Amino acid sequence: VVAALGGNALARPGEKLDIGSQRANVAAAARALAPLAREHQLIVAHGNGPQVGLLALQAEAYTEVEPYPLDVLSAQSEGLIGYLIEAALRNQLPGREIATLLTQVEVSLDDPGFARPTKPIGPVYGESQARELARTRRWSIAPDRGGFRRVVPSPAPQRIAQLPTLRRLADAGVIAVCAGGGGIPVVRGADGALSGVEAVVDKDLAAALVASELGAGALLLLTDVEAVFGDWPGTAQPLAGVTPAQLRALRLAPGSMGPKAEAACRFVERTGGVAAIGALRDAPRLLAGETGTQVRRSEPRPPQRRAR
Ligand SMILES: Nc1ncnc2c1ncn2[C@@H]1O[C@H](COP(=O)(O)OP(=O)(O)O)[C@@H](O)[C@H]1O
Ligand SMILES: [Mg+2]
Repeated sequence: VVAALGGNALARPGEKLDIGSQRANVAAAARALAPLAREHQLIVAHGNGPQVGLLALQAEAYTEVEPYPLDVLSAQSEGLIGYLIEAALRNQLPGREIATLLTQVEVSLDDPGFARPTKPIGPVYGESQARELARTRRWSIAPDRGGFRRVVPSPAPQRIAQLPTLRRLADAGVIAVCAGGGGIPVVRGADGALSGVEAVVDKDLAAALVASELGAGALLLLTDVEAVFGDWPGTAQPLAGVTPAQLRALRLAPGSMGPKAEAACRFVERTGGVAAIGALRDAPRLLAGETGTQVRRSEPRPPQRRAR
């Protein structure tokens, strides 16, 4: 089972990014995940949007050195968040082996994502402050969460460099925390060497790639809403069971539910496994198919009448 934790699982919108509240949120996440780890090989992926933005701002405060590039900040956030998740899981699952794996995720320099930054990172600013920051720091900015945020390129993940290691960990029963923040974005040069790039890979798509490549049976996309709603921002039409075609037809919000839906579709289409989108606290019931939005390759067959 591959479980992807939303940024919301670590820091709720509007909540300060202080370490105490992140520890409390991560402890709740670990309580929700522990039952899965007792019965399945569990791999945990997670977002890093708020944290990587904070690290970027902190890196700029030290003016004698150039701000660190986003691949380095991604690695930093994988360590930071990975540590919090690993420590919380360890407290829930005494005796279990758990490892956080720095994960490099290969992207293509030809990816259209590089020409069109879409991924919001860091805090929400008022419009005038955001415009000033865009000018002085040469950021791209876009409206998000009622204000404006820095946006960076988000190319599609194509290959997980540490996949063989991840497979070994899973096969050995180790709970691996990986592909944090979508992983460290790298490109492969003509000589085969990997080098970091200025981007933040979408964590839902990276988790789907990990799940597909490992041949996972299920991909759980865990967030702060109990399902995908057909009438969003209304909540009258929670979708229970859908096919990839039905989900894609909804044209979901590109900055939030869209990537989760796309990640679910890609995993289901590639593997025939089940993907579920729903609330983190419901993780065990999501896996059991009892709640949330369940994405399957085809609609469940109507019950067959028994031949006499
Ligand atoms: N159709 C929809 N159904 C449910 N939630 C939606 C829908 N469209 C957009 N959303 C938003 O998507 C959010 C989850 O995505 P996101 O904010 O990216 O969280 P995460 O950090 O978990 O990736 C929900 O909190 C909700 O505000
Ligand atoms: Mg998201």
